[in-house]
Amino acid sequence: MTLQPVAFILLFLHAWTVWARVVGTAPESVEVYLGDSAEIPCQYNITEINSEPSRIFIQWFVRSSPYPSIQNDQESSKRIRIFYGDDQNSHVDNNTEYSSRIQVAFDQQGTLLSIQEVQLSDEREFFCTVNALEAGQLNTRTQLRVFAPPEAPIIKGVQTGISVTNEMPSKVATCEARNGFPKPNITWYRNNMALVPTAGRVNVWTDDTLESSKLYSMLSTLEYKVQKEDKDANFSCEVSFFVPGAIRTIESSNVGVSVHYPTTMVELWRESPQGLVKEGDTVELRCHGDGNPPPTFIFSREQDPNVDLEAQSSVLVLQAVSRKDSGIYQCRPLDIDTRQQVKGEMQLKVHYLDPAVLVPAESEDLVRGEDLTATCNALSSLKTSTIWHKDGKMVGRGNTLHLQDVTYEMAGEYVCDVTAPSLPSLHTSGSVHIVVNGGPQLVGEEQEVQLEETVGRMVNLSCEARGHPAPSITWIFVGSQSWQVVASKSSEHVTRSVVSVAVASDISALCNASNDLGADVRAFSIKAVPLITSSNPFSPAEGNGVIIVVIILCLLLLAILGSVLYFLHKKGKIPCGRSGKQDISKEKTAKDDIVVEMKSEAKSEAKSEDVVLLKAVNGDKNGPSEQ
Ligand SMILES: *[C@@H]1O[C@H](CO)[C@@H](O)[C@H](O)[C@H]1NC(C)=O
Ligand SMILES: *[C@@H]1O[C@H](CO)[C@@H](O)[C@H](O)[C@H]1NC(C)=O
Ligand SMILES: *[C@@H]1O[C@H](CO)[C@@H](O)[C@H](O)[C@H]1NC(C)=O
Repeated sequence: MTLQPVAFILLFLHAWTVWARVVGTAPESVEVYLGDSAEIPCQYNITEINSEPSRIFIQWFVRSSPYPSIQNDQESSKRIRIFYGDDQNSHVDNNTEYSSRIQVAFDQQGTLLSIQEVQLSDEREFFCTVNALEAGQLNTRTQLRVFAPPEAPIIKGVQTGISVTNEMPSKVATCEARNGFPKPNITWYRNNMALVPTAGRVNVWTDDTLESSKLYSMLSTLEYKVQKEDKDANFSCEVSFFVPGAIRTIESSNVGVSVHYPTTMVELWRESPQGLVKEGDTVELRCHGDGNPPPTFIFSREQDPNVDLEAQSSVLVLQAVSRKDSGIYQCRPLDIDTRQQVKGEMQLKVHYLDPAVLVPAESEDLVRGEDLTATCNALSSLKTSTIWHKDGKMVGRGNTLHLQDVTYEMAGEYVCDVTAPSLPSLHTSGSVHIVVNGGPQLVGEEQEVQLEETVGRMVNLSCEARGHPAPSITWIFVGSQSWQVVASKSSEHVTRSVVSVAVASDISALCNASNDLGADVRAFSIKAVPLITSSNPFSPAEGNGVIIVVIILCLLLLAILGSVLYFLHKKGKIPCGRSGKQDISKEKTAKDDIVVEMKSEAKSEAKSEDVVLLKAVNGDKNGPSEQ
């Protein structure tokens, strides 16, 4: 509370001998919060020159209208007395609105009016009148000011988007501060910088409402010409209000504004797949612009600018693309605000690899010894690499394959694999079946095969012939009737036949491989070897001879013994010392067959040695079992 010197009225009363006067002060205003107690002092003093103290009489008045501002003529409004008396006898006037709410105290300095539970209607002038008889009268006037701080301001941003193309400032937010007294002020801020109303840029409209409580509620509306930069701006408001002796402020929260601005730039790019695109892929193109809200886009191809492609908002999906889908794609925003034509553009390249074309196709018949050049080509948008395979093995590289002086071994399936190294998932292949025709050709070099075999044994003769068509093999035997085919196999280019023949005497055989294109013949001659040979001192045949001699001798001995026994029968008994039983080993009749396989590198002399060695091993094995 600030005490200011106030105007005071001095009345000079004339006495015969003494001059005295009453002087005093009262604050021009007293400020207090609503509901608090207010104290209004009225200080006075009597200056005496030469006199006894005067008797003092105090009265307190209020102006009848609580709102002097409403009153046109302040002077005409009535004063109402609310108190009268002195320090001995004080009286609160009955039937005033202050009858129960005031107290008046006295002290050396003067008097003090206390008002409890200050109401808004207490904002009015209070008058103090001091009557000091001879010393005169003092009148003071104090304005009581009542304050009620408003509630925190509530800001509400506009929910709809605001376009930067609006010519005039648009409503951005409202701010309400309720229940304050006196009227609070509202200030607007953008990014914590105060917004000053400016024609064409910032308008602020304020409405105040007098509530039934006589408090004021303020509603402020901010109109602002938004620009693109405002899309991230924060708007806030602040309420400022008087309190006793000060100004206070409360800030609102921040609100943003959804700024709508036209698209000035559009980008188009491929979202998927990554890397190179091949036929059959599903391609996604995405269009993005810098406008807000994001516009709908129209997709088209450069070659048909007026044909809109069907797209979902900002993504164009191309299912199972083909090379025909290659080209330049464009997207444009479907945006009313956009004045200039903006578009995004990109090139799509769909790569392809056509099926491989082989020359010759499918299959090719050659005659043994001929040459062939095969080609394998696949049309592609990329550089390709070709590899030839046969039976799982690589036989060539590049799109041509040269086969020179073809042999039966070179016949078969040739596969060419074409790949695009830069796009490995692109590949194709083709195959050609090469047939090599020709007369039969027996495997092995010798014209005649010579063998030796023990009589009674079995011999396998084998004959393998290459050729196409597959040769048929016939056997002709001279000197033996007991032979049979035990194995025969025929594939496209190879025929094999094995015959088993029993050796009884010398045999000569002929293997005749033939087809439409010729025949090849191989002769076999088997020399039958008798059972006993001189070459082996421990041969089973020699051992048998000794046994036969022993048996004959034993039989002779038995005959002699028999006749001796018969002769002695008449004279006495003579026992025979030996049982006379003799085991006779039977010739082992196992027939150990010898296989004679044709080996192309083997020479006929070497072959004969092999056969002899083989037999020797067999003899060794039989020997001990007969001893
Ligand atoms: C409100 O604004 C007016 C005018 O600018 C100013 O005179 C007054 O002091 C302000 N009141 C408050 C509480 O800030
Ligand atoms: C081999 O067989 C073919 C076809 O049957 C025949 O023409 C040819 O005379 C035979 N060759 C011999 C040596 O028997
Ligand atoms: C002869 O060939 C047949 C059939 O392949 C086989 O069963 C037999 O054991 C062979 N004989 C010899 C002595 O190798």
